[in-house]
Amino acid sequence: MPRKPILAANWKMNLGRDEEAIAFLRKIRRGLNEIEGLDLVLCPPFTVLYAIAALLGRTRIALGAQDAHWEPGGAHTGEISTAMLARLCQYVILGHSERRATRSELESDPAINRKVQAALGHGLTPILCVGENLEQNRAGRTDEIVSGQVKAALAGVAPKQAERCILAYEPIWAIGTGEAATPADANRVIGLSVRGALAELYGEDTALAVRVQYGGSVTVENIPGFMAMPEVDGALVGGASIRPDFVDLARAAAAARS
Ligand code: PGA
Repeated sequence: MPRKPILAANWKMNLGRDEEAIAFLRKIRRGLNEIEGLDLVLCPPFTVLYAIAALLGRTRIALGAQDAHWEPGGAHTGEISTAMLARLCQYVILGHSERRATRSELESDPAINRKVQAALGHGLTPILCVGENLEQNRAGRTDEIVSGQVKAALAGVAPKQAERCILAYEPIWAIGTGEAATPADANRVIGLSVRGALAELYGEDTALAVRVQYGGSVTVENIPGFMAMPEVDGALVGGASIRPDFVDLARAAAAARS
C-alpha cells in the first residue's frame, strides 16, 4: 500500500488568541480543504484548540496539539494530558527539538516514550520528532542520534500501534534557520536511520508502512523537492505554516505527488 503523504502545520507560540487564529484559518480553510491526496493537520497553541476545532468540524483538515503530558491527570501544574486532548484533537506533536533542548526531564527519551504510549492509549496519533544538532551532524553522528531517538521513543510500543505513528525527521540546524536539508539528505537519513531503526524494532513491513515527514525550513519553493523523494511522506512546517501562502505550499506538496 502506498503511504499517503501528510502535511502538518506547527504554529508554535503564534496565533494564540481566538480572533487572530480564526481570522487566519478563515483565509486558508477553503483552499486547504480542496486539496486532495494529502492528509492535513493544523497544530495551533492550546489556547485556540477549541475555537479551531469548531471551525474545522466539517472539513477534512485534522487538528493536533503541540505537546502533551503522559500522566492522565493530577498534580502537574500547567501541564495538559493526552487524556484531556483526546476528544479535541486527532494528533499531537511529541519530542519537538525546541522542547527537548530546554526541558531535560520532561523531554528526555524515556519521558517522550511515556508520552507516545499515553497518546496512543488515548487514540491520538503522535507526530514524533527526531533529529540531530549541528555538532552531531558535523561529527558524523546523525544516524546514531536519529536511530537512537526513534528506538527510545518507541520502546515497548506494539507494531500495530507504531504503524499509526507519524515520524518527523527534523535536523535541528535546519529548524527556523532558512537552511533546509537537501531533499537527497533528508531522503537518505529517513531511509537509513528512521526506517532502519523501525526495521530493527519491528521488521521491514512496519518500517515501510510508517509515514515519515521532513521538517526544517520547508517553504513553498522547496516543498516539491522533498515530496519528490521516495522516503519522504510529507512535511512538518513551522514558519511557513502561519502565512496565507501555506495553501500554495500544501497545493505544491499534493501536486508533487499526483
Ligand atoms: P520551521 O520549523 O519550518 O520554521 O523550520 C519546523 C518545525 O519546528 O517543526
